[in-house]
Amino acid sequence: MKAVRIGIIGIGNIGSAHASAINGGDIPGLVLGALCDNDPKRAAELKELYPHVPVYENAEEMMDSGLVEAVVISTPHYDHPPLAILAFRKGLHVLTEKPAGVYCAKVREMIDAAKESGKVFAIMFNQRTNKLFRKAKELVDSGALGELKRSVWVITNWYRKQAYYDSGSWRATWAGEGGGVLMNQAPHNLDLWQWICGMPVEIRAQCDLGKYHDIEVEDDATLFARYANGATGVFMTTTGEYPGTNRLEIAGTKGKIVLEEKRLVWTRLEMDEREFCQTPEERKISCTVEEFTDERYNGHHRILENFGRAILYGDELVACGEEGLRELTLCNAAYLSSWQNRPVALPMDDEEFYAELQKKIDGSRGVKNIRTAHTEEGSYHSRWNTNW
Ligand SMILES: NC(=O)c1ccc[n+]([C@@H]2O[C@H](COP(=O)([O-])OP(=O)(O)OC[C@H]3O[C@@H](n4cnc5c(N)ncnc54)[C@H](O)[C@@H]3O)[C@@H](O)[C@H]2O)c1
Repeated sequence: MKAVRIGIIGIGNIGSAHASAINGGDIPGLVLGALCDNDPKRAAELKELYPHVPVYENAEEMMDSGLVEAVVISTPHYDHPPLAILAFRKGLHVLTEKPAGVYCAKVREMIDAAKESGKVFAIMFNQRTNKLFRKAKELVDSGALGELKRSVWVITNWYRKQAYYDSGSWRATWAGEGGGVLMNQAPHNLDLWQWICGMPVEIRAQCDLGKYHDIEVEDDATLFARYANGATGVFMTTTGEYPGTNRLEIAGTKGKIVLEEKRLVWTRLEMDEREFCQTPEERKISCTVEEFTDERYNGHHRILENFGRAILYGDELVACGEEGLRELTLCNAAYLSSWQNRPVALPMDDEEFYAELQKKIDGSRGVKNIRTAHTEEGSYHSRWNTNW
């Protein structure tokens, strides 16, 4: 069987899980070509852990080694676009971790470099492989739900303790990470929200900084979205609520779907409500209820395998890298709205956002002097998959 030689850049929490999965033969079509981490102590540890795999401290040297055809980028977010651009210019395929970057202007440069290279560009939106989100998308895209009226996502089970924020130098500062829960945990849900319901035309948001933790970025956010057809959406997320909720409800003119507790419940109206509204006699619309259940799966493995198959056989990507821009647009618009206390029309002004972000970076506590602790070397935390 043909296999793509992968180089992984950034072997921390998630990078070490990807390395272990590929090295262990869990991903058909991928083999480990090389590893790279710019922390010399980490690189030394990796040489012990993977004695048969070349280890680099410099990403460019790994890219130039001829040992890899594609890279997986699992460094902190600010580095995703510059590393991807470098890889594309060297003719390598790229799978980047989420988020695509921290600000849209840089992500646009990454997308241009991908287009110029003609290489495969994917992003690790692993929750897109979840059966229930796929079903929700199918019901919306096929028109089975009618015209969208409203969506509400309460995604408050991204709980994190203070120790999590204190576990890495780059975490939870404007200079090191560029954001909080919307930038780190909720990108999966922001992406799914736009993937299923489409992009809104306006975002209004309240992002509370350090509400539950000693951090300078937001750990609680509420977004209010307006869509071109007049539909509305609300998205609430936090890392400070326990046990928290994961509940997505989407209402259309032909019914509604509710995803919660590993189930999707579809209530289908037998007549479109807009039509029913004008009928003189009937008092109720008859409806049928159908239920779908979730399955155990490893979304990260599926995205890695899909990346390999896209390179080898031209398979369609589950999440192409370009789509990371839409998710990041929602995040950036929410920040700008909250900072300036006003609604932000989409598409937004990327330059204005960057200027405001720069002010936050200038006033930032900066990058902390802590070495990342690798507590669960090589395994995927259950919290990274869909957590109902
Ligand atoms: N898809 C998911 O479910 C998921 C889960 C966790 C993390 N992530 C994403 O993965 C990225 C990394 O997160 P993490 O928790 O693994 O971070 P981490 O701090 O545990 O690991 C990052 C590693 O990258 C290395 N590094 C930093 N800059 C580098 C560079 N320029 N070149 C080479 N190595 C470099 C660091 O030394 C560190 O070992 C983040 O963008 C995060 O959002 C995604």
